Parts: sequence; C-alpha cells; structure tokens
Amino acid sequence: MTLDLAVLVSGSGSNLQSIIDRVEAGVLDARIRLVLANRPGAYGLERAKKHGIPAVCLEHGDFPVREEFDAEMVRRIREHGADAVALAGFMRMVTPVFLGAFPGRVLNIHPALLPAFPGVHGQRDAADYGVRFSGCTVHFVDEKMDHGPVIIQAVVPAYAEDDGDSLGERILALEHRVYPQALQWLAQGRLEIRGRKVVLAPAPSAGVATVGDGMVNPSLESGF
Ligand code: GAR
Repeated sequence: MTLDLAVLVSGSGSNLQSIIDRVEAGVLDARIRLVLANRPGAYGLERAKKHGIPAVCLEHGDFPVREEFDAEMVRRIREHGADAVALAGFMRMVTPVFLGAFPGRVLNIHPALLPAFPGVHGQRDAADYGVRFSGCTVHFVDEKMDHGPVIIQAVVPAYAEDDGDSLGERILALEHRVYPQALQWLAQGRLEIRGRKVVLAPAPSAGVATVGDGMVNPSLESGF
C-alpha cells in the first residue's frame, strides 16, 4: 500500500532527500504529502519545493504551549492527507497530542546505536567516548527522547582519529539507506510492535537480498 507521508525537518534535510530519491526511483512506495519544518531557514524546505512537494514552516516559538504546537502540526499534516510521519532531523520532542494522532505511525532516525548516545549530539558523544563502532537507528517514536521500539540499526567502524564530524559523515551515508528501507516496511504493513520489540514480517514476494558490504545491516533489501 502507498504510504501517505509527512516528513518533519529542522535543518539540512539530507535524510528527506534520500526519501524523495527512493520515492522517485520507485523503490519506496510513498507519496510525500507534506514537508514541515520548525525553523524558517531549514534547507529541507527548499529541497521539498524543488521536487514540487508542499512545504510549510511552523515556528515552535510562536506557540506558547508545546501541545498547541503539536496540535497545529497534526492539523496541517491531516489537511495534506498524510497519516504517517517521518522525523528526519526534527530537533524537537513531540507530545502525546501528536503521537495519539498517528498511533504506531511516527518514526525517527538517530545517528547512534540506541540506547547508546541519545540526544542532539549522538555522533560527537560516541566519537568522544572512544567507541569502536557506532551507527544509526530507526525507531518508532514514543514519549521519551530517542527511545521507542527499534526497527533497524546499521553499524559503521569508529576510529581514534574520529571526531563527531568524521564519524557523523560515515553514519549519515547509512542513514540515507536505512530510513527509506524502514519506511518501505511500514508502507508494506510488515512492522508489528510487540512490547519493546518490532517484528518484521517476511517480504510478500522475493526473499531478503544479500548486501555486498558486511558492515551494513543484513536485513536491507534490494534497492536500499
Ligand atoms: C541526522 O544525522 C539525524 O540522524 C539527526 O539529525 C541529522 C539530520 O540530518 N537526528 C538526531 O540527532 C535526532 N536525535 P539531515 O537534516 O541532513 O537529515
């Protein structure tokens, strides 16, 4: 089934771009109904416009109460016909007002292997800690920050010479593959939440493709 998707951004929107590209390539079965930003300078808004996707900025500072901001986002998202949401570098917590409007249909991507290094500097925190591996996580969103059930993770090596920027660049390349993959699973109705765990139903037709590079999560399917 085609996913009617809203993508929420705060900045560059390179994850948004990877989603747009996979939709246009025909491997992600989604229509991006709306791109919504909470900062007027978010480059993701420009990316949306270049692809003819409706783009709206709602500045959270204009809303004195967090729930009012969320209620307005819900209104706009519904108005544009979306019923699933991808947070893609959206640097703001959402409240139950938002989550209750799209139950089980709000996803987030985080640039670390959760539950390690949540927060706004996941890449830098992992590099500073001196880990040997890091990566990214796509998960269902719940009320806590970077916390809900994990859908997919992918791993990259981390080196002593790394800082947040160099490690972050390596991670971002994987983010651009795993997020569209997770969204395709949502589109296919293959994700079932069982408590903290997410069970992925088998692909409707072909089996899981083998990916060449061993560092990538082996559940990535062909095209991602
Ligand atoms: C991405 O690395 C994303 O994982 C991260 O923000 C970046 C946005 O980049 N999100 C978080 O840190 C959430 N806690 P983008 O705007 O180029 O997609």
